[in-house]
Amino acid sequence: MSVALVTGAAGGLGAAVASRLVEEHAVLLTDVDAGHLEKIASKLAANGARVAHTVCDVSERASVQAAFAVAEEQLGEVTALANVAGVGKFTPFAELTEEQWDRTFAVNTRGTFLTCQELVHRRAGRPGAIVNIASIGARLGMEAIAHYGSSKAAVIELTHVVARVGAPSGLRANAVMPGLIWTDMWRATTESLIANDPAHADATPEQLFAGFVEQMVPMGRPQVPADIAEMVAFLLSEKAVNITGQTIAVDGGAVMT
Ligand SMILES: NC(=O)c1ccc[n+]([C@@H]2O[C@H](COP(=O)([O-])OP(=O)(O)OC[C@H]3O[C@@H](n4cnc5c(N)ncnc54)[C@H](O)[C@@H]3O)[C@@H](O)[C@H]2O)c1
Repeated sequence: MSVALVTGAAGGLGAAVASRLVEEHAVLLTDVDAGHLEKIASKLAANGARVAHTVCDVSERASVQAAFAVAEEQLGEVTALANVAGVGKFTPFAELTEEQWDRTFAVNTRGTFLTCQELVHRRAGRPGAIVNIASIGARLGMEAIAHYGSSKAAVIELTHVVARVGAPSGLRANAVMPGLIWTDMWRATTESLIANDPAHADATPEQLFAGFVEQMVPMGRPQVPADIAEMVAFLLSEKAVNITGQTIAVDGGAVMT
């Protein structure tokens, strides 16, 4: 059984990706949130999946290297990587600080760079597959997410580079741009808008999210974690053997490429 490493596996999308990938892979679940990680991994193990878990901060090289070592010890050599870990918060452009900019890039962009580089290094000229979770925010020019959108645009270009580096040996890299999915990220975003913007004071987080969906998604529906998990599973599978260097939106038509 091949081995997949999932970052951000305690989050809304990461947990769904890990739950889907266990159908084809042994899976190492990683995240900085030890409590949720343990719960999700235990549930998958109880259902018979071959999984292990370890805390990993993707922004730190030593932490990334330690996670790959745990995977190798407990499950076997990692051949597939799903980079789902990410942070993002709405902040008006005029108020964006260097600290917010740097932290967003440290997790979203440096984190993706470190894990991709580690897999490329460990595969040493042998096949493998990577999916990096970007965002439609990389393509919207949205004022409230200059830091987040830019960090995800960088993830897309990084994916192109990894795809070129890996291509001769059959190591593929693709990016997925999720649309609007109700997870802790959107809950935190909408709660903060309600708390800080009088225009939203009377809305519930769910109502505000539904408003964004209506405005931004031509199909008028939110996406769900399973939509993203299915695309990640496909891109990591042999069915996608000729697909590399691509960015695929799963977003109800929000960004048409
Ligand atoms: N929810 C959406 O609508 C949406 C849309 C587009 C892209 N995305 C992207 O999908 C990914 C998952 O987001 P989500 O919606 O599941 O949010 P989430 O907040 O539920 O999950 C994010 C996870 O990343 C983890 N994380 C944060 N910093 C980390 C670090 N330094 N190292 C390792 N893990 C870390 C968090 O602990 C959390 O479990 C993110 O990359 C996000 O940018 C989400």
